[in-house]
Amino acid sequence: MFSRLVKPQSVAGIAKSAQNFSTSSQNNVKVAVLGAAGGIGQPLALLLKNSPLVTELSLFDIVHTPGVAADLSHINTHSKVRAGNGPEQLKESLKGMEVVIIPAGVPRKPGMTRDDLFNTNASIVRDLAQACAEVCPKALIGIISNPVNSTVPIASEVFQKAGVYDPNRIFGVTTLDIVRANAFIGEAKGLNPTQVNVPVIGGHSGVTIIPLISQCKPAVDFPKDQLKALTERIQEAGTEVVKAKAGAGSATLSMAFAGARFAFSLCRAIMGESNVVECSYVRSNVTDAKYFSTPILLGPNGVQKNLGLGNLSPFEQELLKAAIPELKKNIQKGEDFVNKK
Ligand SMILES: NC(=O)c1ccc[n+]([C@@H]2O[C@H](COP(=O)([O-])OP(=O)(O)OC[C@H]3O[C@@H](n4cnc5c(N)ncnc54)[C@H](O)[C@@H]3O)[C@@H](O)[C@H]2O)c1
Repeated sequence: MFSRLVKPQSVAGIAKSAQNFSTSSQNNVKVAVLGAAGGIGQPLALLLKNSPLVTELSLFDIVHTPGVAADLSHINTHSKVRAGNGPEQLKESLKGMEVVIIPAGVPRKPGMTRDDLFNTNASIVRDLAQACAEVCPKALIGIISNPVNSTVPIASEVFQKAGVYDPNRIFGVTTLDIVRANAFIGEAKGLNPTQVNVPVIGGHSGVTIIPLISQCKPAVDFPKDQLKALTERIQEAGTEVVKAKAGAGSATLSMAFAGARFAFSLCRAIMGESNVVECSYVRSNVTDAKYFSTPILLGPNGVQKNLGLGNLSPFEQELLKAAIPELKKNIQKGEDFVNKK
């Protein structure tokens, strides 16, 4: 009973330290969420509002944004919340933004692949990227909208056409694959899942998701059949959620957690923290695929150093072989969408 009573106090303590942090630091970050009223957008905005790293939280959606912003603005943390609702308010929402996270677009229903979302989400990401290229071309942009394998090339082509492309500043958010791999391995081995770190490379759909369990920290070992089953579970984990939600959408809460982790890493890198590393799907020359996710050392200007593949086991080399043709196809589709119109 007593421990329950002290909990609200500790939450207040967190808010208080957030306020102290804001007055002592000159460098907190302005973050926008595009698609902020959605299943991912709302809990993501909540986690960002709770962070001392964020000074200004600009929420944009085509519906319901004023309500979400009014609700969040009553939380006593220091960041200011503003709302943009509808396309005519998009550019205003992006003014001065240093980090832009994009979860706008439709999610999967049972039986759909991420590529089935292409027709709807490609134009949404293209139009949002166009506005970013005009208003905040130097922002670090994290794209959550699926199919990530194609939406990152779409945004990159839009920036290229606008003459403001910097490949170090556009990221596909694949963090949920790492979060899932850490959770599943922690569970299988009885480890504290917050202390497990598995790089997941490649892309963000089916066979393009390549967990590097041989590089897990702490080191773990699985018999061949278990390794295969675990790898396939990580690759299909999104579908596990889509099926369980039975038509009500795809991963939203775990995605918000992962998206917030990635956004905080970008903020920490912008504020000059060293050794901030996240796997992310970026423009890359590590493999034959033009975009590829590997561990990335983040800096104030985005990608500071691509840390590459590391040593792959023979099993992981086979996964890589299977991923590349699919990735190339997804990348081409995204580029064609922008260039053949
Ligand atoms: N990268 C990942 O790991 C990952 C994981 C889960 C989901 N996703 C993807 O994230 C996207 C969003 O999923 P969700 O569950 O939040 O969907 P959702 O339908 O609940 O929310 C999407 C939101 O986007 C908004 N929106 C639509 N068009 C817009 C536009 N032009 N400008 C701004 N906002 C717009 C909608 O109004 C809605 O509020 C989907 O494409 C989904 O596939 C990615």
